[in-house]
Amino acid sequence: MRRVAGRSITTVDGLEPAVAERWADALCDSGGSQCGFCTPGIVVRLAALREKTADPTQHGPVDRALQAHLCRCTGWQTIVEAWDHLDAPVAERDLEAASRRATIEGRSPQVVGPQVALGRGGFADDHAPSDALVAVPDGAGGWVVAETIVEARRAAGKVQGRRTTATSEPPLALPDGDWVATLRTSWVEPAYLETDASWCRPGGEPAPLTANGGAFGGKHLDELPRAARELADRHGRPVRVLWSREDSVRFGPKRPPVAGGVRADGSGVIHIARTAGVADVLAKVAPNLTVVEVDVDGPPTSADLRAAGWAEAAMLATAARGRTEVVTTDDGAWAEAEVDDGRIRVRVSAGEVLDTVVLRSYAIGAAHMAFGFVTSESVTVDPSGTVHDLTIRSFGVPRSVDTPPIEVEVVEAGGPPVNGSDAVFVAVASALWLHQGCPADLPSARLAL
Ligand code: FES
Repeated sequence: MRRVAGRSITTVDGLEPAVAERWADALCDSGGSQCGFCTPGIVVRLAALREKTADPTQHGPVDRALQAHLCRCTGWQTIVEAWDHLDAPVAERDLEAASRRATIEGRSPQVVGPQVALGRGGFADDHAPSDALVAVPDGAGGWVVAETIVEARRAAGKVQGRRTTATSEPPLALPDGDWVATLRTSWVEPAYLETDASWCRPGGEPAPLTANGGAFGGKHLDELPRAARELADRHGRPVRVLWSREDSVRFGPKRPPVAGGVRADGSGVIHIARTAGVADVLAKVAPNLTVVEVDVDGPPTSADLRAAGWAEAAMLATAARGRTEVVTTDDGAWAEAEVDDGRIRVRVSAGEVLDTVVLRSYAIGAAHMAFGFVTSESVTVDPSGTVHDLTIRSFGVPRSVDTPPIEVEVVEAGGPPVNGSDAVFVAVASALWLHQGCPADLPSARLAL
């Protein structure tokens, strides 16, 4: 509040319509907005920067401006490309086909269009009725319901924005063995930007959590809509059910930590935090690894998070081979990656392309996420299992300025369109880890390539 005292504040809806439209078109054209939750703030900041920039070919000020933001989806590069091509003519595209491609990559309904960049992705809490009650977790497994979010939080005794200086440690011990490479990973937060929210009218259908994007498999799809329906019926009023960022971090699933070793012939052992479905994934993608599920105190984990278990097993296999390989999926997608000359190069094929901008954007986002997974992302969890990193700044998502250039070649293939970005994540994580000399503990804290 001290920083804004005496100043005027412009939000995206306060921009000149022509300015907002120009940025929305540029971001849609470059693929610089996926779920769109982060984009309105970025539009406002870049529009303001542009007004006072004499030489828009310089990226330094753009990188600095983006440090005030966090985009989980795009990997930044396509946002900077929108800056570069702000005045380019809008390309002719089939936005319905683009939305289909985005829905396949996000594994959840997703709309592509300039309106998304202006915050009109249809997020649940944006279209809740204005007279809705508000429900927040009460800290004991139930909900506190009140007229306003302030009252609900006060009644629940919530303290917003706690952060820790404690370090994050991989929680699992390595299995004994004569390994050529070992890998230990930490708890990793999916870090989707739109916090979990739903609402419902009495007797109605609850608003889905994933209005525009799948949150990388991280959202509790049933719990909040169910609570919204029950509370609306009980109170006879519409009810918004909201998780704060801290709630999403405390209760939302993390990537299951692993500790594994591999022999030169590719056989080995992988210990992994007990997670429904993950043993089946590993049995399929890594039949040479003996899988041991381990009970470990900590937040919930999920096998639905992007390539959970699959990527870690592929990384160990890559270390045993000493070289990368094409990553394939059951439904016919493939991806390969190399790290060379300070940049990440990706080739991806995912059936009918539908829309190159969107597939490329998702490939860059997945490569950025893999870059963060290998180098910088983790969440501090103490030995009793309590999560200490509760703000999105503390998860270690790489900033624009830390992200290497990512080159993507989209390879057209016949057949139905299928998800390609998960294979990109696996290919890039494997290539990066190998490039860094297979450091035993992740994140490696080595952002420079
Ligand atoms: S588009 Fe930036 S967080 Fe989704």
